Amino acid sequence: MEVLRRAIELGNSGADVVHMAVGEPDFPTPAPITIAGRDAVMDGATKYTDARGLAELRLAVANYYATDYGLDVDEDRIFITPGASGALLLTTALLMEPGDGIILSDPGYPCNRNFLTAFSGTAQMVPVGEKENYQLNGSLVRENWQETTRGVLLASPANPTGAVIDESILEEIASVVDAENGSLISDEIYHGLIYSDAEKVSALQVSPDAFVLNSFSKYFGMTGWRLGWLVAPASVAPYLEKMAQNLFICPSSISQYAALAAFTPAAREIMEVQREEFKNRRDFLLPALRDIGFDVPIEPEGAFYIYAGIPEGFPDSEPFTRWLLEEHHVAITPGTDFGSYLANRHVRFSYAQPIDRLQLGVERLQKAIHAG
Ligand SMILES: Cc1ncc(COP(=O)(O)O)c(C=O)c1O
Repeated sequence: MEVLRRAIELGNSGADVVHMAVGEPDFPTPAPITIAGRDAVMDGATKYTDARGLAELRLAVANYYATDYGLDVDEDRIFITPGASGALLLTTALLMEPGDGIILSDPGYPCNRNFLTAFSGTAQMVPVGEKENYQLNGSLVRENWQETTRGVLLASPANPTGAVIDESILEEIASVVDAENGSLISDEIYHGLIYSDAEKVSALQVSPDAFVLNSFSKYFGMTGWRLGWLVAPASVAPYLEKMAQNLFICPSSISQYAALAAFTPAAREIMEVQREEFKNRRDFLLPALRDIGFDVPIEPEGAFYIYAGIPEGFPDSEPFTRWLLEEHHVAITPGTDFGSYLANRHVRFSYAQPIDRLQLGVERLQKAIHAG
């Protein structure tokens, strides 16, 4: 956020900053969705809805699980929330008692651990690197399970690494969590943005009682509409409903009516074209960064990020990103935003920018690194 603020400041004073720090698609929200949102406003669909979300939208999400994952998910287990952030708020409010711990990967999306600590829980950060494909696995979860541990929070594809968790590893983790009577929480916000042959596998496929967070933000291109969802075990649905009523009354009605169009073939077609474009960008940026001297040992399979080791001889991530921004007008995110494991020597590049901007960014990086 600091990088973003400074990049905007520089932009306002006339600098042409290449933004590779952003965490949202540059594409506009697909037109069928915006049109549905506009119609909702004009038709007066601007009132509170059911705290769990519109019945039609929960049904549409249930259908999405049927068509995209072959899963039968009862819509009574689906809660529409203000972003995946709202889904995580409900989940942590439900599960955390003071002192409870949840196992997470380091590096990982920082807000997830902040939600845990906001409810007086502990984020048990487990270092993961190249050897672990930047993801947790069954042995790591088993080794790190403590008396106070209540569960595991996974994210796949992950922010900041783009790493996708294999189905077999997901199964391993689910069985350890099950044996410990814990909860499996799966952040699937980047599902739909996978560029390899890896199938998107939902935690619900291996653990029907998992808490699954998803969002209309990334694949569906609706960051500012603030809409996501949670799939939770049926047994806790009444508690989650009460919490949703108390914490935010309901998600935005306008956004929900708009999101009904997100599952239409016309909108999905646009999203698939965008996914292809993200893949092209990754395929451009990854070899270009490697050529410059950034270390990316494993091809990131999803999301729109590349987590890279800083070339030797250059400063640590915070001064390095400051230097790139101030002197070369390239905005990237320091690894220290995502944890502490080797974070000082890593940075995150986002390719949620048009390819010509990425090309300009690469030219500047080349000059910066090779001129020292
Ligand atoms: C891994 C991950 N989870 C959750 C979120 C929250 O997203 P939202 O609240 O917009 O759905 C983000 C946002 O960048 C993210 O990267």
